[in-house]
Amino acid sequence: MLPEASGPRGCKSLSLCQAWRLDCKHGRAFERCALNSLPWTPSELNVFFIMRRAIYPGSFDPVTNGHLDVIERARKLFDEVIVAVAHNDEKQALFSLQERLDLLKETAAKIDNVRTTQFDGLLVEFAAAQKATAVIRGLRAVSDFEFEFQMALMNRKLEASVETIFLMPKEEFTYLSSRLVKEIARLGGDVSSFVPPAVAKALGKKFAASRKK
Ligand code: PNS
Repeated sequence: MLPEASGPRGCKSLSLCQAWRLDCKHGRAFERCALNSLPWTPSELNVFFIMRRAIYPGSFDPVTNGHLDVIERARKLFDEVIVAVAHNDEKQALFSLQERLDLLKETAAKIDNVRTTQFDGLLVEFAAAQKATAVIRGLRAVSDFEFEFQMALMNRKLEASVETIFLMPKEEFTYLSSRLVKEIARLGGDVSSFVPPAVAKALGKKFAASRKK
């Protein structure tokens, strides 16, 4: 039997540990561990100690209900999911990096074991720096596949220790994309069933401002 955590961030029963310099799943650093005196095998302890962390990268311009669905699925598979907004100079974004992060903070960051941040440079380097073992990508339809497949294999070539995992969102989100949501909002359509309320409001503001210009 593995040790019980004493609370959301507590690992009371593991305070016996000596000689480990790892973070447990609850974010506590253990510096000492008398392995031999514990009733668990090293592999059982590994299950408890090693934080399984994944990165969910993207432009999130803006975050949609489809992204949130993927985040919900990913967080059940990993101890921590880092939703990371790319500084993507090639793409002309509607929302600034800060606005995209703020919208993620209001929506995704509220979900348990989910953290939001930004990254610059190569995704696999960011993943390695965060000690993440996986990259999550949503796969909606066959049309996504070619680009995603190419990116996953290239990332593997660059860093073999980071695995790409594809998650399928709910069927009702398979046609959903940030690009279409922006187009609908720009043309005055109702996007409330595609994005969280904070995003719908931000889109409304953005396009109201551009109509006034
Ligand atoms: O939401 P998007 O626009 O499909 O996300 C694409 C993203 C940000 C995941 C991709 O462009 C990326 O990983 N950018 C970081 C730079 C990088 O590592 N490029 C090499 C990819 S093989």
